[in-house]
Amino acid sequence: MSKVFEPNREYAKQARIKNMCEYKELRLQSEEDYIGFWDKLAKEKVEWFEPYHTVLDESGAPFYKWFVGGKLNVTHQCIGRHLKTRKNKAALIWEGEDGSRRIITYLLLYYRVNRMANLLKNKFGIKKGDRVILYMPMIPEAMFAMLACAKIGAIHSVVFGGFSAEALRDRIIDSEAKLVITADGAFRRGTPYLLKPMVDKALEQEGCEFCNQVLVVRRNFEHIDIVEGRDFIYNDLIVHESQHCEPEVMDSEDPLFLLYTSGSTGKPKGVQHNSAGYIMWAQYTMEHVFNVTENDTFWCTADVGWITGHSYIVYGPLAMGATTVMYEGVPQYPNMGRWWNMIEELRVNQFYTAPTAIRLLHKTGADEPSKYDLSSLKVLGTVGEPIDPDAWHWYHQEIGGGRCPIIDTWWQTETGGHMIAPLPGATPIKPGSATFPLPGIMAEITDEEGNIMPAGEKGLLCIVKPWPSMIRNIWGDPDRFVSSYFSQCKKDGKPVYFSGDGAMYDDDGYIIITGRTDDVINVSGHRMGTAEIEAAVVHHEQIAEAAVVGCPDPIKGETVFVYAVVNDGVKSDELKVSLNKLLVKEIGPIAKADHVLIVPGLPKTRSGKVMRRLLRNIAKKEPITQDISTLEEPEIIDTIQELYNKQMKS
Ligand code: WTA
Repeated sequence: MSKVFEPNREYAKQARIKNMCEYKELRLQSEEDYIGFWDKLAKEKVEWFEPYHTVLDESGAPFYKWFVGGKLNVTHQCIGRHLKTRKNKAALIWEGEDGSRRIITYLLLYYRVNRMANLLKNKFGIKKGDRVILYMPMIPEAMFAMLACAKIGAIHSVVFGGFSAEALRDRIIDSEAKLVITADGAFRRGTPYLLKPMVDKALEQEGCEFCNQVLVVRRNFEHIDIVEGRDFIYNDLIVHESQHCEPEVMDSEDPLFLLYTSGSTGKPKGVQHNSAGYIMWAQYTMEHVFNVTENDTFWCTADVGWITGHSYIVYGPLAMGATTVMYEGVPQYPNMGRWWNMIEELRVNQFYTAPTAIRLLHKTGADEPSKYDLSSLKVLGTVGEPIDPDAWHWYHQEIGGGRCPIIDTWWQTETGGHMIAPLPGATPIKPGSATFPLPGIMAEITDEEGNIMPAGEKGLLCIVKPWPSMIRNIWGDPDRFVSSYFSQCKKDGKPVYFSGDGAMYDDDGYIIITGRTDDVINVSGHRMGTAEIEAAVVHHEQIAEAAVVGCPDPIKGETVFVYAVVNDGVKSDELKVSLNKLLVKEIGPIAKADHVLIVPGLPKTRSGKVMRRLLRNIAKKEPITQDISTLEEPEIIDTIQELYNKQMKS
């Protein structure tokens, strides 16, 4: 069994939850009186315009409603209410890749957001309930735009800037967005790059005609084409808008945002989060999981295009009135010490990143941290994938000086905020475990019938009771919502939320996440569906048929592995180059394949279903234990295995 790291006792004295007794007491409270537990939190945490009348309405399960009848505006929670006590506190410290900084106080953030909200209303006719796509680099205006939407009740959908024009188009169409907010581009690895041309390409395509307005923030001032009557420059227009704007009065269950994420089948789905439950949990987890206090500086390195950026760069830190850091560029610029330099200069207190980044910085710049003063750090966090022992120990020792707890947070786009995580003042930590569910979160590892798995046996990670920040729907596809999340697992005969992840308890009841049980892969912490990649791969004119699986990688966690059946005479190297060009075009650079294996056929059942599991076994160098005699052509497995061995040798 791995060593247990106890919380630092001095630190624990000033933590919100100071020991395991306090944690257990909260758990017990939530078990004994589930409704009362959430009622108390919602009353304490949210500044309501009007109180709710019902904590939880289960009548339409699994379409649960929380804090029904309550009125609020998320921007009042995140900005407005802080003006009394924190108007001159830094809400955001932004650092450009070139080292320039912008510090935005709560008052200035309030004005910026108001101006942008007015611009959206007055110039673009955006109203409550309209969808707005944000395709933005990591600049303060991305935050302003999200909050400006929230202020007027519009539903934002941020599309990660690394996605292609095609991926952007799909999201514009699915959400029926009225407006795209973007930037000319930004800076990466010391050079300017462009985003706006992707928007041009997306909007030129069939099916996007309804979206005929683009707001462009000037960041790098590179040349971009402007379509007369469609494209408008933010920097020119914003100065004419008033800095006063009344918040739209929103119902607890009015949608706040959509965020597209990959599932095991089909196209990415628009995960819908609503106002009250989401913001309350973003705030609660910020306060408790990172234990951020008034004078702290919190830095989450995610991109705002992912849920981690939504909940822990924007909504969570602002809801609690903290100072949040946003960085424009890559960790390797101008050298491998960039992040550590920023921690030193900004005296960052809590630092939250992904294991893939830790592995990269460990492998390529192991000695860098020792050049900087990292003594301000109190808590370190990780998210997105399991953290391996090597990376854990380096992070713990070299970044955290052996003093900071590593908070391994398990959660998903669909859960809105952390679900399973240690509490820095209370939980004894084991490397590689996200430890225990947070108070109020009824996470269990079960079989399909809801029986709890014994220690050491893999099961399905389910959340057996609804929780306030849970996904409310898949945009425009309620049937898919039910079938994706509420069809695999039951508890007491009732469908419960299944995360798609496998997990296991150790002998002390600690939860160890074992990874996805479906066809979703995790490349550098980015979640992608193999079905989505396959749909793009088969557009390649030389590929007749293909299957995509994840393959282990020491830095990225997993990489894309393509098995391709091709036309005669196609060479593997050339195929990889042209296939990756196609994947970049159709999805984005994150979907590039590291391995392409040309095979004569795919293993299929007699009914024609591709047995991806066998292909996964080969790519992961796992033994094949499954009976293959029922395959249409069982010999194909040996052939593929030989081809694989040959390619790996060469
Ligand atoms: C994986 C990211 C192990 C998991 C917030 C989940 C993790 C998926 C962890 C969600 C963790 C997330 N340990 N695996 N601490 N955190 N995952 O939607 O497979 O981008 O289902 O949300 O990432 O990815 P998503």
